[in-house]
Amino acid sequence: MKKLKIVVLPGDGIGPEVIREAIKVLKVVEEKISVDFELIEFPCGGQYWLKTGKKEEWPPEAFPTCKNEADAILLGAIGWTYPDTGETVRYPDGRMVGLDTLFGLRFGLDLYANIRPTKLYEGVPHKISGEFRQVWEPKNVDFVIIRENTEGLYCDTHGGLHRGGITEVATDTRLITKKGAERVIRFAFEYCKRRNKGAPKDGKLRVTCVDKSNVTAGCALFRHTYQNIKKEYPDIEEDYAFIDAFTQWIVRTPEWYDVAVVPNMFGDIATDLAAVLQGGMGMAASGNVGDRHGMFEPIHGSAPRHAGKNEINPIAAILSVQMMLDWLSMKHGKKLKEGATLIERAIALLLKEGKVKTYDIGGISKTSEIGDAIVSIIKNLD
Ligand code: IPM
Ligand code: MG
Repeated sequence: MKKLKIVVLPGDGIGPEVIREAIKVLKVVEEKISVDFELIEFPCGGQYWLKTGKKEEWPPEAFPTCKNEADAILLGAIGWTYPDTGETVRYPDGRMVGLDTLFGLRFGLDLYANIRPTKLYEGVPHKISGEFRQVWEPKNVDFVIIRENTEGLYCDTHGGLHRGGITEVATDTRLITKKGAERVIRFAFEYCKRRNKGAPKDGKLRVTCVDKSNVTAGCALFRHTYQNIKKEYPDIEEDYAFIDAFTQWIVRTPEWYDVAVVPNMFGDIATDLAAVLQGGMGMAASGNVGDRHGMFEPIHGSAPRHAGKNEINPIAAILSVQMMLDWLSMKHGKKLKEGATLIERAIALLLKEGKVKTYDIGGISKTSEIGDAIVSIIKNLD
């Protein structure tokens, strides 16, 4: 098998800390399944921008390398705050520095499907009102949200009316296209078929279309497109939810859900809520994929308050590596799938045992101890 090139973008804040652990795990898997990875690292984000005297947020060769050479991309987090004021590092026009990297990849590589699994592992409690509780049962929480990733409120149609230095009107146009809806909905059905798990409640393969089609025209198009595409998948159950009700149902009956497909901004909001069901943002991994390229990242962001303390949970980043290997296995063979399975098994064992865990899920272990523990479990797995 050819050497696989992975572009690594550690980024801001806790990004480099969690990526360091993710790379430790990638390296042990590399040995274990005898594959070769070549890691190509680039700095990016707000901290790098400040370091370059506000010249660039990633080096000019980074994007072409991602586009033309990388087999996959691993991103830590972007976004920084000035330590003295706590203000977000922004461009003069108000945009957060770091977005050119994140959106540069999502839009520039046409990564139209954002895969966000919500799975609760045994041994993971939920922190609610400052207390660790077991609210949901692990067997009931195992669904995947597929968030549309290249249109909706995130497309580049922001504007406004500025008079005498004052912004009087601000607009964001929410574009939903037939092409954009079709491809992400088809992706969700294909994902459901490949995952082949079904919903915890009844084992049925199910794709839920989440929208607000009772009110918005874009969502009516989204739902109509879903209704056409679902005809191609007679073995998968159709299901619908309005986004407001969906946020309620995933909390009350998560076991009903298998795969849900959601327009961009609704997906952004719903997946932070869904992270609570799996023990918080420290557990929430994601993959941004298109027809050719894939970029994998924990969804937690750069958490400047926690940076440099070696205290943050790296499992979301390590699970992002697991997703990356799973995705790479579709093109480059089943050895990589074995690698993905090793990571998942090791994480499940670690959490079930419950001795080594970070503060966010009720432990006292350091970031680096989690990576070390997962590495040593993987070494002993067969
Ligand atoms: C996410 C994040 C990003 C988004 C931010 C950092 C721009 O919240 O990946 O969910 O809104 O997509
Ligand atoms: Mg988000």
